Amino acid sequence: MTLRNKIWRFKAGLKFYIKSKTIYSIHSKFLFKLLLEVFEERKNYYDFADIEAIRHQYLANDKVLNINDLGAGSLNNTRNKTVQEVARVSASTATKGQALFNLARLANPSQILEFGTNLGIGSLYLSRGAKSASMTTLEGDFSLHQISQATFKDLKAPINAIHTSFENYLSSDIKLDDFDLVYIDGNHQYDFTTALFDKLNVMTGKQRLLIFDDIYWNQEMYKAWQYIINKVQNAYTIETLSLGIVIMGPHILNKQHFNFIRKKFKPIQIPFFG
Ligand SMILES: C[S@@+](CC[C@H](N)C(=O)[O-])C[C@H]1O[C@@H](n2cnc3c(N)ncnc32)[C@H](O)[C@@H]1O
Repeated sequence: MTLRNKIWRFKAGLKFYIKSKTIYSIHSKFLFKLLLEVFEERKNYYDFADIEAIRHQYLANDKVLNINDLGAGSLNNTRNKTVQEVARVSASTATKGQALFNLARLANPSQILEFGTNLGIGSLYLSRGAKSASMTTLEGDFSLHQISQATFKDLKAPINAIHTSFENYLSSDIKLDDFDLVYIDGNHQYDFTTALFDKLNVMTGKQRLLIFDDIYWNQEMYKAWQYIINKVQNAYTIETLSLGIVIMGPHILNKQHFNFIRKKFKPIQIPFFG
């Protein structure tokens, strides 16, 4: 990461903090319950231990992979990395995984789509959160795809792992309307993110949850998130320092946006300053 991007992230993080609101400022009952159970009062589910055991296996695995990273920002796209390095750097953390699990549990989708399988940690959290949903996950690197597929098989996880670039998948005549939970965790480029959002920004008559990861990754990604917030209608948009969440559906009749922070990080809110 360049120094310029580090400075931008620091300033953007500060602005976020000033504007952010805790759960005490949320008036909608639906949102209050969602934010409470996803971010504030997380229960421990048996599934978490199963998934964290997989992470431990990965963290102990020093097999070298030749990874073709199709994500944005990397000039050197093919690199050797061990499984443990990938698990440490790219896989969702336990905290994020648990948030994904709870978002899936509360949204209760019938079809989940994930952009960016990596080692399958996020896929497992989402799939375990919504056990009756069918799940598809996309990964451009073949070695990562193979590892995640083997893990899903071992765990008998009902996850359809596809080896493809996101761009190829989207250029096929795939119907996105049926996916009611979509997690976008790879390719943090403005054009890709906004074009994908435009495809997903359709009313399907059902609730739809879109989760954009790493919205503060760089200026480009943050600009894409601003585009999304401005473009949605009749939707809740929730911004955290990591995730951008869009909830749309027939039960949402207006547009509301929150910069959400957990109450332990902002125990005191000063009027006019968030
Ligand atoms: C941050 S990791 C995903 C982590 C995973 N979702 C989780 O929760 O553990 C991003 C993944 O997206 C893949 N990726 C990035 N851009 C891609 C593209 N354009 N097409 C296919 N895969 C891509 C990368 O290879 C990488 O494995």
